[in-house]
Amino acid sequence: MPQIDSLFVTRLYRAALKEQGKPIDPAELENSCLVIAEDDEAGQRWCAEVGYPGYTSYASLTDLPWRFPIFADLKDALDAHVAAFAEDLEFDLDGRELKLEDLWINILPEGGTHASHIHPHSVISGTTYVAMPEGASALKLEDPRSGRMMAAPARKKNARRELQTFIYMKPAVGEVLLWESWLRHEVPMNMSDDERISVSFNYAWA
Ligand SMILES: [Fe+2]
Repeated sequence: MPQIDSLFVTRLYRAALKEQGKPIDPAELENSCLVIAEDDEAGQRWCAEVGYPGYTSYASLTDLPWRFPIFADLKDALDAHVAAFAEDLEFDLDGRELKLEDLWINILPEGGTHASHIHPHSVISGTTYVAMPEGASALKLEDPRSGRMMAAPARKKNARRELQTFIYMKPAVGEVLLWESWLRHEVPMNMSDDERISVSFNYAWA
């Protein structure tokens, strides 16, 4: 029998948010996101100007964990999740830490999408899911080597998961996903009538 190994593995972290830190009430987090969005006129203006579907606090509110206690609790939980993932990744952090750099709310209405992107200048990025109505889109992750695969055949539809070029994650409310920030991802169109609400974040090597 030949020996065939998997090399250069891409890790993806998935956990219930409540596995770390103080429990966060999902209904309270959802309500906080909606109230903040409602009050954030600068953010609403920014979204309208750049044609962002729905709402993001990304450009307007840079201090959610310092303004709102529930986001302070969220930061504490995320710090612990990210530390656990960094451990799994066997990063040599050379005595420094991974620190929260940005944390922002996303509210994606019916028909909204978020095109393929990476998160430059960060080490770990992720999202925690606040409202995921039936039919709300998954998170689509792309094989980071796909730009090099000029003459490679496509993979079979039912190929083993670790060999697939695109992976669709369908996280539940209260879950957190983490990945390395260079991993290309997108949010396909929200086919639900209801809003898809999530909180995303970046951790940098401080
Ligand atoms: Fe992203």
